[in-house]
Amino acid sequence: MIGFLLFCVFARSLWAQSSPEARAQAMLQRMNFTEKVNMLHGVNGIYVGNVPGNERLGIPSLNLQDGPQGFRITPGTGEVGTSTAWPSSMTIAASWDLDLLYEWAYEMAREFKDKGANVQLAPGIGIARVPNAGRNFEYLCGEDPSFGAAVVVPVIQGIQDQGVMADAKHWINNEIEDQRMTVSANVDERTRFELYYPPFEAAIKAGVLSVMCSYNRINDVWSCHNNETLRHLKENLGFRGFVVSDWTATHSTAQSMNAGLDMEMPLGLFYNEHTLSTAVDSGEVPMEKIDESVYRILLSMYSIGLFDHDSTGDPTANVTSDAHNALARKIAATSTVLVKNDHSLLPLAKSSLRRVVVIGDETTVSGTGSGHVEPAYIITPHQGISLALQGYNVEVEYVDGTDIEAAAELAADADVAIVVVATTCGEGSDRDTLALGNNQDALVSAVAAANPSTVVSVNTPGAVLMPWSNEVPAILVSWLPGQEAGNALADVIFGDVNPSARLHITMPNKDNEVAFTRAQYPGVGEPREASYSEELLIGYRYYDAMDITPRFCFGHGLSYTTFAYSNLIVEAYNETAGSVSVSLDVMNTGTRDGAEVVQLYLSFPTEAGEPLQQLKMFEKVLLRAQQSAKVIFELKNRDLSVWDASSSSWSVVRGAFVVKVGASSRDIRASADFIV
Ligand code: GLC
Repeated sequence: MIGFLLFCVFARSLWAQSSPEARAQAMLQRMNFTEKVNMLHGVNGIYVGNVPGNERLGIPSLNLQDGPQGFRITPGTGEVGTSTAWPSSMTIAASWDLDLLYEWAYEMAREFKDKGANVQLAPGIGIARVPNAGRNFEYLCGEDPSFGAAVVVPVIQGIQDQGVMADAKHWINNEIEDQRMTVSANVDERTRFELYYPPFEAAIKAGVLSVMCSYNRINDVWSCHNNETLRHLKENLGFRGFVVSDWTATHSTAQSMNAGLDMEMPLGLFYNEHTLSTAVDSGEVPMEKIDESVYRILLSMYSIGLFDHDSTGDPTANVTSDAHNALARKIAATSTVLVKNDHSLLPLAKSSLRRVVVIGDETTVSGTGSGHVEPAYIITPHQGISLALQGYNVEVEYVDGTDIEAAAELAADADVAIVVVATTCGEGSDRDTLALGNNQDALVSAVAAANPSTVVSVNTPGAVLMPWSNEVPAILVSWLPGQEAGNALADVIFGDVNPSARLHITMPNKDNEVAFTRAQYPGVGEPREASYSEELLIGYRYYDAMDITPRFCFGHGLSYTTFAYSNLIVEAYNETAGSVSVSLDVMNTGTRDGAEVVQLYLSFPTEAGEPLQQLKMFEKVLLRAQQSAKVIFELKNRDLSVWDASSSSWSVVRGAFVVKVGASSRDIRASADFIV
């Protein structure tokens, strides 16, 4: 008997070591039609998406849960506040810190695992084409595809290293929330491959195991049964996981199955035993298509290890922790962008202060919709500042700022006035203006007039108007900082954290500064048609093309120290290797340790029809005071290529390129050219 048991243990361990492909194929062969169909759609359950397990065959259930900034509590998954309300995806992306992004993803996914969810419906990796789009706060990529492609990798790896599947969303061109269920994004193929696909391509190279297709249409064809875009995903980009629909985004049975939709959520309206058996029997859907979808789902499940580890999660568990609270604080502080700091007003020296007044918003720390996580608590700016000044003989007063005159009077007698302004938005609609609203602009102007030492912190879901930016000496962009907002603000204001974040979106001077026509945004007609006629010229690319000076530019962010760039060397193009080596030295020329984000922009030969310049790479470098470091970049052929729709391939551009390195898109410190 012992021998037999040992043999079984040995056999199982041997089997578990065979490839996920072999195991998925073997399992597929054992399944009957009903069992296959049961994997292709959701059913009602406690998670946002539920695919029941198969007891006969030992197939685990799939438990899918939102969202991109933490485990969203839904009925049956515990009390509100039993998961961490992390800073939003747009927030942490502003850190440009790949290690921090990995740590965040790994720890955030731990909460999903501990609550029994094995698919996290994240990351959101749409491009911020429209500055006021309602879900930009949920997305990692900002307005640049190379930036997005870089930051998505550690997030996919972090989530999946925790044993939880990631789900890159929303494929594709879901950049408009107004009428999101019906709008058609009319985008040419080159623009998709060069601007919108790269973050997904990087996610696929990072091993993402699922992708969510979107609500919208692309060129008048529903995304979840769009032959062209789903073929691009699975063939051109090589995606081998499964495509799950957004919730109720499925519009057909045969057309969807043949186009490459693998799973319908949340229920089986189009994918069920009747519809699929009819489609197979009629020959509309080959059985091979059903098998391929089941295989892709099984392959993802074997790849993440679901068959090898019993699920131990308890959906009602409280999965928050002091460690996660501290990490949320670290992320929010590291992601806060210091966009202005005249006469080095910041950091404030605690010992020099006698009276500080804190004014304004206390509660706007996240966005709304399926990506919202209700926090267990919020550390308000007043609390954070007060906690930081404990032990110092400093009087801290707070007013909410609704009475502007009273706030200004209070500010007049303070050493420093800290004004927190805020706005937010969410899924299902776009902001109708980038202005803060609620008289907040008047509040800032009045306080700034009363006290020249006024610091403004802006909690924002993305681009925001700051008409008072010339009236105040110091401005912080805190994005949507999550539950530890006040502590993170204090950490930056008092210098416990030296700001190192950078803008990954352009801060405009006015609404619609990119001059979208209605046809471009939000679209015209019924149902809506949105023409992406700007093609590649979104964000800073548009500002460069039109020579407009933004309020604060893409890549911008200050530090409490300074950095110098030198010795830029751009080697000749290596035809054999298909690459160009770039190196430079960066020195911390100040008196404090700090991190610089060295950015590499590339200008193509004019005839290539590319933007004047585009970010291709960046490196965040931590430097001690007076320390130098060499930064090395390697441009590959793909970086020098454009998408050629006629041949459906990347084509290296021949001619003179210019490499520009700098601290932002408008702070270029050195440049050099090379010829291909
Ligand atoms: C929502 C969102 C998607 C979310 C899903 C489940 O409508 O578009 O991002 O994951 O449905 O809540």
